[in-house]
Amino acid sequence: MDHRALPKAELHLHVEGALEPELAFALARRNGLTLPWADPAELLRLYQFRDLQSFLDLYYQVMGVLRTGADFFDLARAYLDRAAGDGVRHAELFFDPQAHWSRGVAPREVVAGLTDALDDARQRHGLSGGLILCFLRDLGPGAAAEIWGAVQPLVGDLLGVGLDSAEVGPIEAFAPVFAQARQRGLRLVAHAGEEAPPHDIWQALDSLGVERVDHGLRALEDDALVERLVRDQVPLTVCPLSNVRLQAVAALERHPLAAMLARGLAVTVNSDDPAYFGGYIGDNFEAASAALGLSDEAVLRLCRHSLEAAFVSPQRRAELLAELTAVASSDG
Ligand code: HPA
Ligand code: ZN
Repeated sequence: MDHRALPKAELHLHVEGALEPELAFALARRNGLTLPWADPAELLRLYQFRDLQSFLDLYYQVMGVLRTGADFFDLARAYLDRAAGDGVRHAELFFDPQAHWSRGVAPREVVAGLTDALDDARQRHGLSGGLILCFLRDLGPGAAAEIWGAVQPLVGDLLGVGLDSAEVGPIEAFAPVFAQARQRGLRLVAHAGEEAPPHDIWQALDSLGVERVDHGLRALEDDALVERLVRDQVPLTVCPLSNVRLQAVAALERHPLAAMLARGLAVTVNSDDPAYFGGYIGDNFEAASAALGLSDEAVLRLCRHSLEAAFVSPQRRAELLAELTAVASSDG
């Protein structure tokens, strides 16, 4: 089965993580900035990570070339074109406004560029999507409250809020800002259990009230948690190539994706930071299917889960599920 033809949603994608080395150098030139590496090839050679933090250090440095709305537009447009080629019909883009604001780039610029790129993708590819503002966990709840205050005029342009960066400090400390986001009608997600223990996943569900868990890999260590996630069919946005590159799992052949599916978890496949981890969503489907020997039925189920977990209207969901059924049956 050609998984690239199957309609799917990408639900765990940091748009700054789609910044390819070539584009980073082009934007640096455009903005009169000098990167500390000779060329894209030299930068690419540094993409060997021990863990999440070793990746984040480089990720925040490279995204320093993003300065204007046009930069964010070009970045998101390049990603959305790639995603459309992988069968993505709906994409929810994470972005890290605190990381840009600290360099003097206003959230308004960031959101304008990204929104224009989503409008462009809707027109050119019929792709739907939205923006999820991620708070940086390692900067703490005070900094989250500060950016939340600054983006109040932009809330209408957002689909949801999330939580990312290093898994340090109590996750439940973000409960007040998540409650405010919910009151403003936003959808809630959070990274949890990527490297840190299952405790964070419980807190993401019970203190933050998230509707999906990003990664959630370590849920498997806690049977009661798995039972809860299965009972409520809480979607987990899993990123196989990311987990290997950041050494959360030892090898793709040992990735728990197949075990998670077998236990009845609502898992989806996503790319996380495709420019850094060796592939886009299609590459993640390809590599995980080959390494884990996933059946056509399992691949279809992953695509269906993504459409069921997407923050879309009932009409859009029905349309996308019907498309999936049509493509799957014509594929034999
Ligand atoms: N985890 C946490 N924060 C991130 C990631 C990730 O995989 N990618 C970009 N920010
Ligand atoms: Zn992520």
